[in-house]
Amino acid sequence: MADSPAGTTGAGADEWVNPLREPRDRRLPRIAGPSSLVIFGVTGDLARKKLMPAVYDLANRGLLPPSFALVGFARRDWDHEDFAAIVRDAAKEHSRTPFRKDVWDRLSEGFRFVQGSFDDDDAFDKLAATLKQLDVERGTGGNHAFYFSIPPGAFPTVLQQLKRSGLAEQNDDSWRRVVIEKPFGHDLESAKQLNAIVNDVFPEHSVFRIDHYLGKETVQNILALRFANQLFDPIWNSHYVDHVQITMAEDIGLGGRAGYYDGIGAARDVIQNHLIQLMALVAMEEPTSFHPSELQSEKIKVLSAARLAEPLDETTARGQYGAGWQGSEQVVGLLEEDGFAKDSTTETYAAITVEVDSRRWAGVPFYLRTGKRLGRRVTEIALVFKRAPHLPFDDTMTEELGQNALVIRVQPDEGVTLRFGSKVPGSSMEVRDVNMDFSYGTAFTVASPEAYERLILDVLLGEPSLFPVNAEVELSWRILDPALDRWAQGGRPEEYESGTWGPKSADEMLARTGRTWRRP
Ligand code: BG6
Repeated sequence: MADSPAGTTGAGADEWVNPLREPRDRRLPRIAGPSSLVIFGVTGDLARKKLMPAVYDLANRGLLPPSFALVGFARRDWDHEDFAAIVRDAAKEHSRTPFRKDVWDRLSEGFRFVQGSFDDDDAFDKLAATLKQLDVERGTGGNHAFYFSIPPGAFPTVLQQLKRSGLAEQNDDSWRRVVIEKPFGHDLESAKQLNAIVNDVFPEHSVFRIDHYLGKETVQNILALRFANQLFDPIWNSHYVDHVQITMAEDIGLGGRAGYYDGIGAARDVIQNHLIQLMALVAMEEPTSFHPSELQSEKIKVLSAARLAEPLDETTARGQYGAGWQGSEQVVGLLEEDGFAKDSTTETYAAITVEVDSRRWAGVPFYLRTGKRLGRRVTEIALVFKRAPHLPFDDTMTEELGQNALVIRVQPDEGVTLRFGSKVPGSSMEVRDVNMDFSYGTAFTVASPEAYERLILDVLLGEPSLFPVNAEVELSWRILDPALDRWAQGGRPEEYESGTWGPKSADEMLARTGRTWRRP
């Protein structure tokens, strides 16, 4: 069987069979077919904190088949047992579900480790031999997913090695897929080059670009909220929406991450991928179905219509955190963090204004912001509505009435809030903002899976809906590049105190249009 979800036939996304239309009991869990997952970069933070725990959680939920194997590839002088011990520690420390010995024992029988560096032909030949052996011993069926949790500079070498050793070869009976972590390039030009290199080895339907935000339940719920309800669509446009604020704020700093982050910065790290994807889901038109190609084509359409508002000096902002207080902890500024150049101009805060040239959104700014060491950790999408055209109240009665808002609380405290005005109990007609809340925690009894659980399972199933295709990645760079170019000419980012809500220039950016940022 070629590249397709378990239980379906077909050679890729084009022939993908929509699980929503399959004649099967939809309450049954989707279980991956025989396969192995090879992780490059297995000694890194992402593998330890997210990937290995997610594999364990999937096994614990019964979503991996008995014929599953996990293969680590790295330079460390480890044997299979050392590798298994590392995965066990990671699973015990970071998994979402409790550690169960019987699950662990079954899962870890399929663990293998291959030692080597990326330019070592012998190591890749050994990897090929190991996978072949797993096909025989574990029945993994020649189905292999290669997860690149490695610096982008190493992508071309590893891709060439997979090609040379025959590991990228697809045939009718088995699939080969590559999973690529961001950053996918550092601008449009480099992303195009990278896409060409990847597509030279793996056809597009075998490429799974990870944007872990798309694996979050609350992000998938944007589609349910918009397209399963009658309530919201009539007001989801420029007639009613004044502007949209998409915020991903973090309280953590960048200690220990200089190697990845210095020279990358907040816009490339978060806006180019997570926030522009969120914007696409909020702004896109209704797809005719949830077939991946239809979903993608709506996202591509809206991204093609999006551009940065100008002039960039007034519609964008960036900053770098200085020392300050994060709660009760005194913290240093970025330039004092280990590994950052003392004159680093890397921004740790970025905000942009995007306009979408479409009938639905003309004139509605989308404000996207992200930052480290901000007041608290929160990701949310707020549609802020226009004021009612007329208020038949005394002015003093509506002094505390703001603008209506629909807030999708991506994390933490996942849910949706509707903010509207309500009469304050008493003898006067005073109106004040109140919130109506939906919370996942109280509405559902099952806990949401981690994003990486969903995404790794989808890779093994060959389900591409939640993975941006190269056109989306390139369009996102096309939107962001003008700001990056402008900032590159513009000297140092403005310093903001840790624990605050970012640089003054970001507040000014909104104040110019008579608006303010939400303080979630
Ligand atoms: C990653 C970024 O993609 O997302 C990190 O590289 C950031 O800088 C992380 O900290 C945040 O993810 P989450 O799921 O905790 O919001």
